[in-house]
Amino acid sequence: MRKIVVLVLAALILASCAQIRHSDVGSGDVSSAYGSESTPDLKNDTSDRQNTAESEPLTAAPETVPDSGSGTDTEPIVVSVTEPPATEPPVTEPPVTEPAPETAKKDDLTTDGGYKYCSGAAKYLEYIKTENLTLVNKQNEVPEDYLPDLYKKTGMMKEAYFALQAMFAQYKYETGKTVSYNTKLAYRSYEYQYNLFAKYTRQEKEKHPNYTDEQIRQLVNTYSAIPGQSEHHTGLCLDFTPVSDSFAKSDWFKWLSKNAYHFGFILRYGKNQIDITGYKYEPWHWRFVGRDAATEIFTRGITLEEYLGVYPPSSGQESDALELPPDDLN
Ligand code: DAL
Ligand code: ZN
Repeated sequence: MRKIVVLVLAALILASCAQIRHSDVGSGDVSSAYGSESTPDLKNDTSDRQNTAESEPLTAAPETVPDSGSGTDTEPIVVSVTEPPATEPPVTEPPVTEPAPETAKKDDLTTDGGYKYCSGAAKYLEYIKTENLTLVNKQNEVPEDYLPDLYKKTGMMKEAYFALQAMFAQYKYETGKTVSYNTKLAYRSYEYQYNLFAKYTRQEKEKHPNYTDEQIRQLVNTYSAIPGQSEHHTGLCLDFTPVSDSFAKSDWFKWLSKNAYHFGFILRYGKNQIDITGYKYEPWHWRFVGRDAATEIFTRGITLEEYLGVYPPSSGQESDALELPPDDLN
């Protein structure tokens, strides 16, 4: 009897061990299968990947990573490609530091005629030094069909235009400021000047109904040239804006007043020079003559007429006396 009991117990123990071994094999470890040669149990894979083509190797998907132990065995962990919410404080930009003035002003300067030209101006020295003393004034007219050799559509002769560009470059180099000009305020045709003079004549007639036509003509002629007598016909001068006395308050005017002669330009109608030039003060009107002439005109404080020796006029060449009230002259 004891033998029978021992045999029955032994049989029960053996049967229990066999069941345990069977359940170990059936569970199937997917993660290790992707990492080994064993076949994954796709029937139990509940991830989205189950709907993709079966031939697609899972390891090719960059967004999946092998199970590292957490989660179920059959679900690969999908790594989100969206950025995690920013938890760090916003990065503040470092303060922008201005370059030191010495750095901004670095340039190869060229000294010529006792003046230091920046590289952007020095390349025009040939033009700056070109002399052009064409005189157009009340005593020296140009014919109606006079046309200067203008450079492209600049409204200026080549030497005047490039000398002007040199001046712009120098001003930019020294101050960092950009200036420009309006080509319509340089060369003027005879017809343009005719219409301009006619417009001013109408305006003055309205202001001074008691003036005679001759008085009106003389008044207008203190600030506007009779067609044929305007320096604007030459392509050697230009007006900067604003075309008004307020231009004299600008930094550009102040710079021109000190430096323009180094570039061959002169202020053509200075203060209290109406007896010589025939026109009132025009701070906006600048004329190119070339550096040598400009330097002498500037340093001696004279007009172009005096430089050329046509003023004072020789006997028999008296300039027309103006018969205007003093208020209209300066
Ligand atoms: N404003 C100058 C004198 C001209 O008309 O030419
Ligand atoms: Zn002018």
